Amino acid sequence: MLQSRPPSFHFDPARRRLYLDPHDRTFFQNPYPAYGLLHSETSCFFWEDYGFWCFIGYDAVSRLLRDRRFGREKRNTTADSQGYIGDRSHLKDFDHAEKFSMLELEPPAHTRLRTLVNRAFVSRQVERLRPRIEALSHALIDAFERNGKADLIADFATQIPVTIIAEMLGVPTETAPQLLDWSHRMVAMYMHGRSRQSEDSANAAAAEFSGFLRDYAGRRRAAPADDLLSLLLAAEADGAKLSEDELITTAILLLNAGHEATVHQTGNAVKTILESGSDPAVLFADPESTARTVEECIRYDAPLHMFTRYAYEDIDLGEGIRLKPGDQVGLMLGAANHDPLAFTSPEAFQPNRSDQKNLSFGAGIHFCIGAPLARLELQVALKVLFDRFPTLRFKDGPVYRDTYHFHGLERLDVEW
Ligand code: HEM
Repeated sequence: MLQSRPPSFHFDPARRRLYLDPHDRTFFQNPYPAYGLLHSETSCFFWEDYGFWCFIGYDAVSRLLRDRRFGREKRNTTADSQGYIGDRSHLKDFDHAEKFSMLELEPPAHTRLRTLVNRAFVSRQVERLRPRIEALSHALIDAFERNGKADLIADFATQIPVTIIAEMLGVPTETAPQLLDWSHRMVAMYMHGRSRQSEDSANAAAAEFSGFLRDYAGRRRAAPADDLLSLLLAAEADGAKLSEDELITTAILLLNAGHEATVHQTGNAVKTILESGSDPAVLFADPESTARTVEECIRYDAPLHMFTRYAYEDIDLGEGIRLKPGDQVGLMLGAANHDPLAFTSPEAFQPNRSDQKNLSFGAGIHFCIGAPLARLELQVALKVLFDRFPTLRFKDGPVYRDTYHFHGLERLDVEW
């Protein structure tokens, strides 16, 4: 473990101060050794590079995600989730799109928005998509099988979530490349150390994406269909239930949240399985084994490593941590999934572990609404992939992107 200690890592145990550059290559390529060092010292620390207290204990992260004295909605502060304060006039369109997002709101607005779409995402509704996800996975593999090699991020993982969520919403799948481009540019706003250029790009993407959906929804009002956009349009027609701005933002949120994390969880899962040396025939032998394998992949190498919450009142968390309204805390999902107090041998990939659980989808009122869909996509896509290529192996070493929060691979070059 020590040889993977990130060069920029420095922990002051007396003051519980962490100095660690999230762009340190050793860290973002493999954050787990640093998490291991931290777990051996403490369950919370002040991360100087972010400027707030962070929590890595499984129980503490789970508890704080549910603690209603905290929330995601920005109150008593102008700092955003990356700690940025200052003029945001160039982010007008981005902020306007975010303003109506259930992910950035607390009750009662959050409850109303979430209830409207929740029905479409419950397990029994989502289960109906299984044959479609299976057929899509096979079709994608058919297209590259003869090459004997593929970049599974671009050729496989990226294609499935965007196609499925576009079909669910009722947005033409031919627009997928454009949707991906808008989404990538908007999601860049949540990266540490973003530039003015990426902010301008995110703002332009938000304006274009909103314009596209406004225009598309306008045309669809006349011809409703059996899809999520029509459901939202019906709620909008009801007046009190949903405004047009909320409708546009909800569609953007589902398209953005619906694919980015799933793409990277798919890549991370393939990498985990190949590195573990496990036999895919055993891992995916039946639905029960498949579900356990996917759950362990989700725990072992999660795609989203940190979410923040704002304090809404004076809060004394003990151990000398006193927060004022507007202060932020960092809740480290990937680190909590490797807490030695919560898991036996957290660094071992063990689909049959008796302590199977994870915080990768969050907890509390913002718990991922897409979790049943993400699980289904992963179970189906990974099983099809390993059934078709039982001898799948790395062609080149996988490399993670320099985006610590969004822990995902740049490419995943494999052969068979
Ligand atoms: C492996 C894939 C996924 C992971 C790891 C993931 C993770 C998360 C996490 C951690 C949160 C909570 C954030 C917080 O508490 O601050 C969240 C919220 C959310 N996710 Fe996912 N997600 C995934 C896939 C999806 C999919 C497929 C969809 C939709 C189609 C989706 C839609 C959402 C939405 C709408 C929210 C906001 C819920 C709310 O605020 O009430 N996610 N997700």
